[in-house]
Amino acid sequence: MQTVAERVEHQPTAKGYVPVYTTRVIEQPWDTYTATDHETWATLFKRQRELLVGRAANEFVENQERFGMSADVIPKFSDLNRVLAETTGWELIAVEGLLPELTFFEHLANRRFPVTWWIRKPEQLDYLSEPDLFHDLFGHVPLLLNPVFADYMQAYGAGGVKAAAIAPEALANLTRLYWYTVEFGLINTPEGLRIYGAGIVSSKGESIYSLEADAPNRIGFDLERVMRTRYRIDTYQKTYFVIDSYEQLIEATRPDFTPLYARLADAASHPAGNVLDSDTVYQRGTGEGWLSDGDV
Ligand code: PHE
Ligand code: CO
Repeated sequence: MQTVAERVEHQPTAKGYVPVYTTRVIEQPWDTYTATDHETWATLFKRQRELLVGRAANEFVENQERFGMSADVIPKFSDLNRVLAETTGWELIAVEGLLPELTFFEHLANRRFPVTWWIRKPEQLDYLSEPDLFHDLFGHVPLLLNPVFADYMQAYGAGGVKAAAIAPEALANLTRLYWYTVEFGLINTPEGLRIYGAGIVSSKGESIYSLEADAPNRIGFDLERVMRTRYRIDTYQKTYFVIDSYEQLIEATRPDFTPLYARLADAASHPAGNVLDSDTVYQRGTGEGWLSDGDV
């Protein structure tokens, strides 16, 4: 374990931003957070908590409370880890930025969740192009207390290790699943659609847009459909997929994906905004404001 923490961000070059990967696991340098850092946490925490009442799945706020997360101060991973140790057995590890894919999968497969230790600057409150402490802690960590979701995350990690050994295309299919569930998923509840994706709950604009805007599609989750669908990394999503329960997610992803990867290798992908005849449609988006290219 390294003792000196670095803040590793994408580096601007003539070709745009280039991701910098680092594999180091460090000790959360909690004493180095400045008053401004704690203020940034407080501002974001209060703002999102207010927005998420009635928008995020109930266990979000409930689990943040079980963790003792509050606006007052940036949480200490060691405190959160005590709660995790008594419940689902996950462990948070501090990292400096994005990890190489295989390293990330291996951590998940061993119930270790990498959390970026640094928090965004005050001028990045609304948007930054990579995960920071707020996204990871506020967005991802609460659901690690949900036993079913916690198992799904571990299974995903193991699935990633396996897909990486099969083919780059298999990995691309699997990444779409992560994107449309863990990052941008919606869940159908008796009270209506709710957010569970970390990419949404950590974003002010998308928390509203994903549920309330007329522009995007909202479509029932179907594993193969999701794994064939391209996505947006630079705008709000054109399509959100809706699960009925976390059990549905873990059941749908339990089978061996090897034959599925083989089938998908020969199948065309769907543009991010398409609606298919076979879809269960909650909302057919108007497409207003969509950019015509740039799906990845
Ligand atoms: N069942 C998948 C496989 O065999 C693994 C997996 C589980 C992938 C859960 C994603 C989520 O590859
Ligand atoms: Co994330």
